[in-house]
Amino acid sequence: MKIILLGPPGSGKGTVAKKIHQDYNLPIISTGVILRNAISNGSELGKKVEKIMNVGDLVPDDLILEIIKERMMQDDCLGGYILDGFPRNTRQAVALEKMLEETSQNIDYVFYFKIDFDEIVKRLSNRRVCRQCGLNYNLITNSPKNKNKCDTCGGELFQREDDKESTIKNRLNVYNEQTFPLKVFYENRKLLKIVDASLNEKDFYELLRAVLKS
Ligand code: AP5
Repeated sequence: MKIILLGPPGSGKGTVAKKIHQDYNLPIISTGVILRNAISNGSELGKKVEKIMNVGDLVPDDLILEIIKERMMQDDCLGGYILDGFPRNTRQAVALEKMLEETSQNIDYVFYFKIDFDEIVKRLSNRRVCRQCGLNYNLITNSPKNKNKCDTCGGELFQREDDKESTIKNRLNVYNEQTFPLKVFYENRKLLKIVDASLNEKDFYELLRAVLKS
């Protein structure tokens, strides 16, 4: 099964991807995670993308498509995958379609995460991430026992550079201009499932799972 999670920053794509991964044993391909790892490792890719990500702009398509091609060719992707944060614009979506056509494959579901921007700003400005294990917290809806420490591994919690308020605004503008048109792109291909991402984590996942089960 191949699934695309399409939605604005902070709509819960990463959170849901982990739940689908647990239930369906599908690997998660998150371009954001791959890029952030490249930055932490100090790799050439990381050096190229750090400034772009910190201001909330999109990384050039050629770099992203290279990452995606390489990742999709790995053995664990043979039975399908969850795409989180890709495609992000029409050029990437067309390139993905072409890649899949060449191997007679197709996408099964595109979940479109519908949510108000006010809720997003609240979620993102309250997100904290564990530096050690990468677990996500939210100071309002899913707070750690200790404000600065991960409940699971004791690692330090930090705020993502792009979760600062001015950068959030730019990310939302970029989303409106470049990513939102993909809703129509996938609607036209009869793949789009609109889901209410403003629900709490449990109810939202139940809703999405009901679609996968049908
Ligand atoms: P990326 O990492 O993809 O970030 P994003 O799309 O902005 O998504 P986020 O990770 O911010 O949010 P999310 O939707 O996963 O929400 P989450 O589950 O964490 O991209 C980062 C950057 O990388 C981009 O800006 C760009 O520069 C670059 N990039 C990446 N892919 C690219 C591409 N394809 N092309 C070009 N550039 C690319 O949840 C958010 C918070 O809300 C958490 O605190 C969570 O606990 C909480 N929460 C989650 N669900 C709920 C719920 N149902 N109710 C209440 N709270 C909830």
